[in-house]
Amino acid sequence: MSEQGFKRFRRRRAPAAAPAPAAAPAAEQPLAAPAAIGSAQLPATLPEPWDRIRQLPFDTAAQDHAGLPLVSRFRSGPAAKSFDLLRTRLLHTLKDRGWKRVAVTAPSAGCGTTFSAVNLALSLARVPDSRTILMDMNFRRPGVARALGMLPQGSLADFLSGAVQMEDQLLRPMPSLAVGLNGTADQDAAEILHGRGCAAALDDMMLRSGADTAIFDLPPVLEHDDTAAVLPQVDGVLLISDGTATTAAQLAACEKMLAGHTQLLGVVLNKARRADSPLG
Ligand SMILES: Nc1ncnc2c1ncn2[C@@H]1O[C@H](COP(=O)(O)OP(=O)(O)O)[C@@H](O)[C@H]1O
Ligand SMILES: [Mg+2]
Repeated sequence: MSEQGFKRFRRRRAPAAAPAPAAAPAAEQPLAAPAAIGSAQLPATLPEPWDRIRQLPFDTAAQDHAGLPLVSRFRSGPAAKSFDLLRTRLLHTLKDRGWKRVAVTAPSAGCGTTFSAVNLALSLARVPDSRTILMDMNFRRPGVARALGMLPQGSLADFLSGAVQMEDQLLRPMPSLAVGLNGTADQDAAEILHGRGCAAALDDMMLRSGADTAIFDLPPVLEHDDTAAVLPQVDGVLLISDGTATTAAQLAACEKMLAGHTQLLGVVLNKARRADSPLG
């Protein structure tokens, strides 16, 4: 983990205007309670959707068996600093452009997509007064639940089809972090992600949760077309490169595949040798 490095994060110029935030639907306005019924006072408002997402703390013992180091447990290490640096630069870029949704993917499996997505989400969730959502959209090889030592509730496919509400699907391991976990591999991933309900379910989730940032853990770009199915739903992509395995040709193939579909926000060098890290 101490070898984790951050290579480069390219900021690109922002488009002219950020999209205006959509207004909250009427149904989501706080409901005013009648003044009083008899002597009993009713609460002034219903809890908002974010607060209705079930809180479920991490199971740190299970994390030890997950084999996926969470840098939040080693806050002073160079890996944690790398993720905080990545978070800060990412937030600047997103704020400049009025963007919220970031996909994390890699050329091939094992590069550290889940490692990076989870640790980046944890770093984002430490920003005061913020809300972060982490979605495990890798239906081929889901990994977020195991990384966090949590058990998924419900089926993510049902949520993405619109059959299950956000509040019944997401879990909150921290007050400022909600996660959409995926329990079982599903080979019909592309169909689920292309489904008519998927875009609407994600739009509704972003609107009603009030999330500042959403991170989507995706399957490898060069192995499945699931990534292509999700690209219309995200604002940009972070590409994870495995410093010990990814080739320049693979990165070029990914950039070619992503071009015209989304913005490449940066290439993150994972598993870097210490000498490659800007943090030493
Ligand atoms: N920077 C890192 N330092 C140490 N181990 C890492 C690092 N990045 C990934 N790994 C390990 O490599 C394996 C694959 O990582 P994972 O995030 O599951 O890859 P992917 O999601 O791209 O398939 C995991 O066992 C993980 O713990
Ligand atoms: Mg993964």
